[in-house]
Amino acid sequence: MTSLLSVRNLSVFYGAGAQAVENVHFEVEPAKVTALLGANGAGKSSIMQAIAGLIPSRGQILFEGEEMAGLPTRERVRRGIVYVPERREIVGDLSVRENLILGGYQIPAGERRTRMDAILDLFPEIANKLNGGAWRLSGGEQQMLAIGRGLMSGPRLLLLDEPSLGLAPLLVRRVFERLGAIRGGGDLAIVLVEQNLRMTMRLCDDLHFLRSGRIVGYRRAEDLRDDTARQQAIDTYLGATSISESEDDKAHA
Ligand SMILES: Nc1ncnc2c1ncn2[C@@H]1O[C@H](COP(=O)(O)OP(=O)(O)OP(=O)(O)O)[C@@H](O)[C@H]1O
Ligand SMILES: [Mg+2]
Repeated sequence: MTSLLSVRNLSVFYGAGAQAVENVHFEVEPAKVTALLGANGAGKSSIMQAIAGLIPSRGQILFEGEEMAGLPTRERVRRGIVYVPERREIVGDLSVRENLILGGYQIPAGERRTRMDAILDLFPEIANKLNGGAWRLSGGEQQMLAIGRGLMSGPRLLLLDEPSLGLAPLLVRRVFERLGAIRGGGDLAIVLVEQNLRMTMRLCDDLHFLRSGRIVGYRRAEDLRDDTARQQAIDTYLGATSISESEDDKAHA
């Protein structure tokens, strides 16, 4: 089977000598959720941004067997690669509805309406705030809007950069529940960057562990179902990092 996404030998440099990502390989199958886990500065966002075409990179990024290098971000979006950045970047001055429309600017108006309806079903919290300014939304609602906006173009691959960042545990749970619903609903593949291992475990199929720009380990989620195996993976691959399996998560699990 051909992978939906094949990342081969991917390297990212920020200026001379500053290598953030080093020869990273991984595959993403259709309808699977692949997690990238690692400490702050491990290179997770750089990998996602390189796949989305937001920063230059070396190596191969094959999407449905085709090389993405050299294609601008908007062309990658057209083909189905959508990045939801870690700092949400919704447009506060625009209404919730306008933010969603922005995400679907490339698709015909009729289709856009259908898709918006589906997204609002998924995120009822923002459905009744559609005409208000996006700046009024809470952090969790903003994250829902950002994910909803990402879904507007009908992606095949959603690159989600720390969707739980800055959210209270209860909201993290809600966002992850919706992500679970999204993944259950079709053949959308997701690459998920997270610090929250327990939440990530619930959603993902494959996990890649990153340290200093390199992939240092791989596990299938089913290999990490029991606490001992999970703790072992944390000790082996993540060491004393900020990756959390916090009491908060457990309390809400
Ligand atoms: N625009 C930039 N210019 C220079 N260096 C950068 C830039 N962006 C990231 N870096 C460096 O690249 C490395 C990887 O950063 P990246 O943002 O990819 O990490 P990350 O794993 O997403 O971290 P975090 O969990 O904090 O979001 C870090 O050493 C960072 O300092
Ligand atoms: Mg990051």
